[in-house]
Amino acid sequence: MSFTPVINGRPIFPIGAGTFGYGGGDKPLEPGSSLGAPFRDMSCATEQAELLRYVISRGVNLIDCAEMYGCGGSEEVVGQAIAGLQLTMRHRLVITSKVWRPALQQPQTIPGAVLGMLARLTVSQLDVLYVHALYEGTNMAEYLAAMNELVDEGLTKSIGLSNVTLDQLKTAQALSRHPIVAVQNLFSPLYHHDVGNKPSFSPELRAYCRGEGITMVAHTPLHLGSVASNKRLCDIAMTFGLEPAQLSLAWILHHGIVPIPHFGRHDFVEEDLRAAYTRLTPGAVLSVDRLDPEPIPARGVYVAA
Ligand SMILES: NC(=O)c1ccc[n+]([C@@H]2O[C@H](COP(=O)([O-])OP(=O)(O)OC[C@H]3O[C@@H](n4cnc5c(N)ncnc54)[C@H](OP(=O)(O)O)[C@@H]3O)[C@@H](O)[C@H]2O)c1
Repeated sequence: MSFTPVINGRPIFPIGAGTFGYGGGDKPLEPGSSLGAPFRDMSCATEQAELLRYVISRGVNLIDCAEMYGCGGSEEVVGQAIAGLQLTMRHRLVITSKVWRPALQQPQTIPGAVLGMLARLTVSQLDVLYVHALYEGTNMAEYLAAMNELVDEGLTKSIGLSNVTLDQLKTAQALSRHPIVAVQNLFSPLYHHDVGNKPSFSPELRAYCRGEGITMVAHTPLHLGSVASNKRLCDIAMTFGLEPAQLSLAWILHHGIVPIPHFGRHDFVEEDLRAAYTRLTPGAVLSVDRLDPEPIPARGVYVAA
């Protein structure tokens, strides 16, 4: 492990837990479309909550949620998972969630949306409230003003941004009274070139975040699991005696970014968490740096095993 990340001054285990796919998911709006329609499905909630509790028992304390995941279903699964935890363990958690498009389009509804998140999560305060993405037809000055008031009122400790470029981050910083403490972008060995339609962590954005003390979080860090089937990546992993997911997460950590993989199976949990204790050689880092980008595969629906 090459660094100790913090959020709001609190140390976090260098690998967090993504919760997309708990309590539901999203379906493509039409075949081949990259736009999804979220749906709720609590049929596996008990197993998912049990798995998340196990992940927490292994030291993970950053839990990444969003209002949109499973139409609130994923926040409910997290609420179920942490409800039975001892208070000392609950106090260690750093829980983040994201305001989605409908509330960002109507900033006066953001307080109600956040109260809904808190109720589903069974907490009284979020650690970070993210802007999920900079959607068309939204007004950054207005929604950031609403989010700043929520910091003043104590409903969230701080504010973060997701899916942003360096310029967008600087604009948001200029508009926000409270600091932007975290940026969450798409970043994996197969997507770190700012080539697709979603912003990644360009070297410039990384340097800027480091300089500003902004915690960087990598979403979709395993490229939806396809790191395990990419021939080149698997070859590099084998050369260095690592598993592909372990190599991928260790490489993200090497760049000073906290990955938040989705955990759906116990055996993957073990493999993924090993990355926190894996130090890569310069040769391994360079080999992964040079991988060609790959399009994000179509999303399936997650179920707990
Ligand atoms: N801010 C945003 O706009 C945004 C967008 C997307 C995602 N996110 C966040 O990022 C989190 C992670 O992204 P994601 O869930 O989309 O995808 P991901 O973490 O890149 O990939 C998850 C997939 O990888 C598989 N996997 C996990 N460990 C593995 C291993 N050791 N070997 C092989 N496959 C493995 C998982 O399988 P199992 O399910 O069987 O474990 C699952 O199918 C989300 O849960 C969410 O919290 C944020």
